[in-house]
Amino acid sequence: MSDLHCPQSRVCTAGRLRKHCEAVRVVVRCRPLSRREETAGCENILEVDDKLGQITIRNPKAPPDEPMKVFTFDSVYGWNSKQRDIYDDAVRPLVESVLHGFNGTIFAYGQTGTGKTYTMQGLSKDPEKRGVIPNSFEHIFTQISRSQNQKYLVRSSYLEIYQEEIRDLLCKDNNKKLELKENPDYGIYVKDLSSVVTKNATEIEHVMNIGNQSRSVGFTNMNERSSRSHAIFLVTVECSERGPDGEDHIRVGKLNMVDLAGSERQSKTGAKGKRLKEAAKINLSLSALGNVISALVDGRSTHVPYRDSKLTRLLQDSLGGNAKTVMIAAVGPAHKSFNETLATLRYASRAKKIKNKPRINEDPKDALLREFQQEIARLKAQLEEQGMLAKERRKRRRDSKRLSKSMAGMEEEILWEKNGDVWKMAEEAEDGRHCLIEGGQEKASFCYGIQEANQPICTDGRCHRYWDPI
Ligand SMILES: Nc1ncnc2c1ncn2[C@@H]1O[C@H](COP(=O)(O)OP(=O)(O)OP(=O)(O)O)[C@@H](O)[C@H]1O
Ligand SMILES: [Mg+2]
Repeated sequence: MSDLHCPQSRVCTAGRLRKHCEAVRVVVRCRPLSRREETAGCENILEVDDKLGQITIRNPKAPPDEPMKVFTFDSVYGWNSKQRDIYDDAVRPLVESVLHGFNGTIFAYGQTGTGKTYTMQGLSKDPEKRGVIPNSFEHIFTQISRSQNQKYLVRSSYLEIYQEEIRDLLCKDNNKKLELKENPDYGIYVKDLSSVVTKNATEIEHVMNIGNQSRSVGFTNMNERSSRSHAIFLVTVECSERGPDGEDHIRVGKLNMVDLAGSERQSKTGAKGKRLKEAAKINLSLSALGNVISALVDGRSTHVPYRDSKLTRLLQDSLGGNAKTVMIAAVGPAHKSFNETLATLRYASRAKKIKNKPRINEDPKDALLREFQQEIARLKAQLEEQGMLAKERRKRRRDSKRLSKSMAGMEEEILWEKNGDVWKMAEEAEDGRHCLIEGGQEKASFCYGIQEANQPICTDGRCHRYWDPI
């Protein structure tokens, strides 16, 4: 597909910027026949060729000579595929990019019951069956633990779009409807969405499990645990590193992991009442997503209807914007789902033509790490200042103690010397007892020594003080 087919072709083909364009990567995963489908005698109508990246679909109602439809994707995964294969092949490079400061989005799309939640979440108790989201946690924190000259801050948020309302899955009051906002600095964001800083894979997995408990899930005839909302697990990775200019630079990568609700037909799901209402909203937002994809790949379209649904607004950057995107299209092999599977393959095929413009988010204004670093620097300075003052105070106290000690020492020494002399004198003198007489009155206490009696203490002749023998 040439760039001319995408509405961003002017940007894509405009010399220097051309290299920033990157197609959405689309992979398809086919789950095995379910027990119910096996019991119902369903036939397999799909052939998956993982070497060629091709998936072939046979119309069960077509005459045998009608050629089968073949679709080619970046990768295809058959019913034997392992969760690890999908992660390592389709997701790992994208998460790697997020660690380098790119935005990344992985979204699972497909009809109800085809394995979107299985692929994104998987089964947490079985390490082999853990899905994309928990595998990304392990990947992110393993990479961080191996890094040497960088500082990282990882935070996560979890939201769902239920019946066109955004709900915070990490907030106690998750019935509160959150608003979508747009800001020239941060782009589109959800106001008041909680975000949790996590230090390791266990902590972030705990955050995910808390959110999962609040997610809207319900029974339908097509899936016992059908997702009734679109869920987005958002991981923001901030990395600070000293640049060649000697300054610290921050890169921020945002990873959106999206488990969409599946498109569904009321005749097959048997949805009624609340379930039917949910289904109507789900289908509406999925068709808005389809319209955005069509507009993006249709060269004549000048308007992309991102504003038609909350889902498309939230995914705006991931579809034609500043992000690297992987779409995992999930399909089932049963002949009964021929129409839905064909529709998914067409949808996915169209998405392959979307061109994104990913770039490294360097030193963005909303980097929390910078805020934290500034706060730490401020507190450090405060502590240092307090420390200096305390040190100064301690020093002054020490000096004055030392001074008074040494003065006391000196006094002691003087006294000691005096006493020594006095005692020496007292020993030497037989009648060495004297007292101080001033104006004929006894003034000082007795002392011993050989002061010469009747000799004035002062030598200027004006003194009235004499040592007098007792
Ligand atoms: N690759 C797979 N291997 C084994 N079982 C799978 C696979 N994919 C899906 N399943 C099983 O199929 C059932 C439906 O899967 P899941 O709930 O993931 O579908 P979904 O696409 O999320 O549906 P919905 O749109 O209704 O939420 C589950 O029981 C799941 O364990
Ligand atoms: Mg699901």
